[in-house]
Amino acid sequence: MVSELMLQQTPVSRVLPVHEQWLERWPTPADLAAEPTGEAVRMWGRLGYPRRALRLHAAATAIVERHGGEVPRDHAALLALPGVGDYTAAAIASFAFGQRHVVLDTNVRRVLARTVGGVELPAQHVTKAEREAAAELLPEDEATAATWAVAVMELGALVCTAARPRCTECPVASLCAWRAAGHPAYDGPPRKVQTWAGTDRQCRGRLLAVLRDADGPVHPSRLDAVWVEEAQRVRCLAGLVEDGLAVRTDAGTYALP
Ligand code: ADE
Repeated sequence: MVSELMLQQTPVSRVLPVHEQWLERWPTPADLAAEPTGEAVRMWGRLGYPRRALRLHAAATAIVERHGGEVPRDHAALLALPGVGDYTAAAIASFAFGQRHVVLDTNVRRVLARTVGGVELPAQHVTKAEREAAAELLPEDEATAATWAVAVMELGALVCTAARPRCTECPVASLCAWRAAGHPAYDGPPRKVQTWAGTDRQCRGRLLAVLRDADGPVHPSRLDAVWVEEAQRVRCLAGLVEDGLAVRTDAGTYALP
């Protein structure tokens, strides 16, 4: 569950060290729930989208309150936890508990788009037809379906990669519609490229890094120093407080919650 929340928007290579430290410090949901939310934000480090740290903390609290400290096995109970959407609930139920679910992330969608759809990349967003096609392919037997889900994901992560697919190493190359068609290039609508420099996301990341690396509350001048554009800095700082990622003290200093 911890790894899937971290992997929602961060590559495996960056998640690995944080995931290891996280589980060493908080081996159970109760261990995490017992700490202030700010400790989760600090431990989240530079993984990005730090509201996920708050959601993971809230999920740990809910697991203690509703499920006696044990991560629930049931898809609906998982889905009701903070930070757990349809993909994440299916991934946990399948990978951790061996159940039969359609686990449809970017890796899996790319593998199916290529092998079955004959195109280089899937549509920007999951379509109903795509979900139905994926459900059709899933083996009936529960244990086989769970193995199938992790195998297809691994194939997408390691072999059928976005930029440099290793078709010569692919175990299903002989079945692949995209390969049979001669690897036609993606010709759908332009894909959104995430900008970073100058965005609120970058500004928030800089401000949060100051709070994370400090031993205690910091004077606003320390925050002024990391972002020159004042209006954006003020807006982003207010946003961090609003989101519960930072607190303003009575003395006018700022800290992690
Ligand atoms: N992205 C999300 N979950 C993943 C997983 N289990 N393996 C590789 N990449 C992932």
